Amino acid sequence: MKSKNNKFAIRTTDLKKIYLTGLVKVYALNGINIEVKSGDIISVVGPSGSGKSTLLNMISALDRPTSGKILIDGVDITRLNDKTLSKFRNRRIGFIFQSYNLINRSSVKKNIELPAIVAGMPKKMRGKRVSDLLELVGLKGLENRKPTTLSGGQQQRVAIARALINEPAFILADEPTGNLDSKTGNEITDLLCEINHKKGATIVAVTHDLEFADKTRRIFHLRDGLIEKETEGFSYNEACKRA
Ligand SMILES: Nc1ncnc2c1ncn2[C@@H]1O[C@H](COP(=O)(O)OP(=O)(O)O)[C@@H](O)[C@H]1O
Ligand SMILES: [Mg+2]
Repeated sequence: MKSKNNKFAIRTTDLKKIYLTGLVKVYALNGINIEVKSGDIISVVGPSGSGKSTLLNMISALDRPTSGKILIDGVDITRLNDKTLSKFRNRRIGFIFQSYNLINRSSVKKNIELPAIVAGMPKKMRGKRVSDLLELVGLKGLENRKPTTLSGGQQQRVAIARALINEPAFILADEPTGNLDSKTGNEITDLLCEINHKKGATIVAVTHDLEFADKTRRIFHLRDGLIEKETEGFSYNEACKRA
């Protein structure tokens, strides 16, 4: 899976996605070309329905595009078969959802270590990673709790720890603060900035939270399935860079 051209961690070429719903075609992505460097932190903003989630789902291999290429560290993931793609997702991508997507009947610890069990990580190493991550996300001592006994912000911290357990090179987040009040949302975005800074993970986050977008280095503005423009996050230097 090595490639010669891995100057960019993420590179899409004329990426298109058409959803077929009955007889109606929905043109969700109409030719997206982006290039993201390794270790960068980027936000994607735009009106509802502009294709933000679709773009993130394509990059994270949750779904396949209709046409175009997606190079991740130089590998065109659109050419991988389903089995290789699942393995790629498990090892290389940490995904954070708006509604946390935790397993409510399992403990915090079990939720966090699940992707590591899938990856075949030895139990001892899993235990060590879980306890390091609980510390990082500020949930020490809560490992045996069930998610429903935690606040929204705490549940998102569990989801972030789960996303990090296999030390992925990429963290993709779809409206990670969408269900949180602004103070808690700020704590979560600061944590994402800290992870970008400390772990060097490349982060792409879809957000409606313009304060968060402003902390990221680049902001892609989507409209009707196209990148309408790109701007800089003006707080990046004071916020994410120093986190
Ligand atoms: N699974 C799907 N089936 C059909 N249409 C979809 C599906 N997912 C998204 N869409 C449509 O694609 C467009 C882009 O959606 P989405 O990527 O979810 O936008 P955003 O995240 O910016 O709100 C919208 O018109 C939406 O209705
Ligand atoms: Mg969306």
